Amino acid sequence: MRFLKLILILLFMAVPLIASAEKAKTIDELAKMYDSSRCKECHESIYKQWENSHHARPLMGVKGGLMLTPLATKGATAFSPDDPKKATIKNFPCFKCHLPQAITSAEDSVAVELAEALLAKDSTKVAKLQITCIVCHNTKAIIHKRELGEPKAGVLYSSKAVDSHPDGIFKKVEKSAIMKDSVYCGQCHGLGPNLEFDQAFQCANLYGSYLHSYIPSGASQTCMDCHMQKGDHLIAPNFNDDKGTSELLAKAISLDVQTLGYEWLLKAGTYVPKVVVNTKITTTAGHRIPDG
Ligand code: HEC
Ligand code: HEC
Ligand code: HEC
Ligand code: HEC
Ligand code: HEC
Repeated sequence: MRFLKLILILLFMAVPLIASAEKAKTIDELAKMYDSSRCKECHESIYKQWENSHHARPLMGVKGGLMLTPLATKGATAFSPDDPKKATIKNFPCFKCHLPQAITSAEDSVAVELAEALLAKDSTKVAKLQITCIVCHNTKAIIHKRELGEPKAGVLYSSKAVDSHPDGIFKKVEKSAIMKDSVYCGQCHGLGPNLEFDQAFQCANLYGSYLHSYIPSGASQTCMDCHMQKGDHLIAPNFNDDKGTSELLAKAISLDVQTLGYEWLLKAGTYVPKVVVNTKITTTAGHRIPDG
């Protein structure tokens, strides 16, 4: 009995210790916690595709524009701190989708370091923060946490299970109930305005458009059907590649123009030239474009 009590006391002492020990204090610590570079050894082509994707540079902006800079600049947004040294995780509501691991695993000191790096235009440091393989295949793989629990340490999740996975840390792959479904991407690709914050704002809305426009029209493809054929992890478009983006858009958008030119007889001898232009733009996308 005494032994049991001792174990219970130790357990209560250990839990908060582990919980706080798990949080990263610096950008380097956070990057290391979710570092996926060793996945490259065995998943080379997927790794290359991911490296070129926007998921690998979620705080960098298109073409390195460091789009989070206003969040670190005094007075530039309602969220910006007066002094970068006072920044907290809450000053960056964008982390909800652009860097979910910062919410679960980072101390406020990471927000201070990020705010300072943004103001100093230190792209090398900001680029260390990525939506890595582990973020998608662990952190975001479960949405019914009350019943299914939090994603487990040392376990990856995918659309199918693998009993024995030869990675040093993730020795098992379990089946995620959602990794084949659009709701998985919908966690970050937005339903509408983010109303849960004390200052509502809007970023990506594409999942809302998919659910309320595409699906009710009778269509049935998933995000993965269109964007991840054969497991493609580039998940195009890649907006840093102008040529590739134009080609994809040219394939996806069709413009049908019909014109009627005529002369309107205003009164005898007075002809007014007129033109009627009918345009119809259609896309093959499963949602509105552009978004975000
Ligand atoms: C030493 C080689 C090795 C390393 C390192 C490795 N993997 Fe794997 N992984 C494999 C092999 C082999 C399989 C396929 C097992 C099978 O299908 O039976 C696999 C399967 C998977 C699957 C399941 C695939 C499916 O079909 O759904 C995922 C997801 C995955 N790995 C992700 C990762 C991630 C993320 C990392 C880095 C954290 C990683 N792997 C590191 C070898 C490796
Ligand atoms: C609901 C999730 C979500 C939140 C919250 C969110 N974003 Fe986004 N954001 C996305 C997604 C997903 C994309 C890319 C897809 C798209 O544009 O449809 C994106 C794209 C962007 C882009 C355009 C691409 C780029 O890198 O330049 C900018 C800029 C941006 N977000 C800034 C922000 C800022 C600043 C915040 C916080 C104030 C924020 N976002 C909060 C999900 C979100
Ligand atoms: C944005 C989220 C996201 C990121 C980042 C991501 N994955 Fe995936 N991955 C998925 C989803 C979703 C699937 C399941 C697709 C399906 O079943 O249609 C998948 C499937 C896989 C598969 C099985 C499919 C196949 O073709 O073998 C492997 C292996 C895999 N991922 C490895 C990785 C590795 C390695 C990385 C990092 C380089 C990575 N993933 C990064 C979302 C992601
Ligand atoms: C952890 C959140 C998260 C998940 C899960 C996620 N994405 Fe993203 N995705 C983002 C963010 C954030 C960006 C924008 C990064 C940037 O600023 O450039 C993005 C960018 C993209 C882009 C590039 C175009 C653009 O507007 O930047 C595509 C396409 C995309 N995601 C599709 C998907 C699909 C399909 C899935 C599901 C298989 C998925 N994403 C899952 C957060 C996520
Ligand atoms: C029926 C096929 C289809 C489905 C389903 C689909 N997409 Fe798309 N998506 C496209 C096409 C086509 C484009 C535009 C051409 C291109 O750039 O690839 C596009 C563009 C995008 C973009 C770039 C938006 C921009 O601002 O230009 C993002 C992000 C994206 N899709 C994410 C998703 C997510 C997340 C889902 C699931 C909720 C999804 N897509 C479902 C076909 C689809």
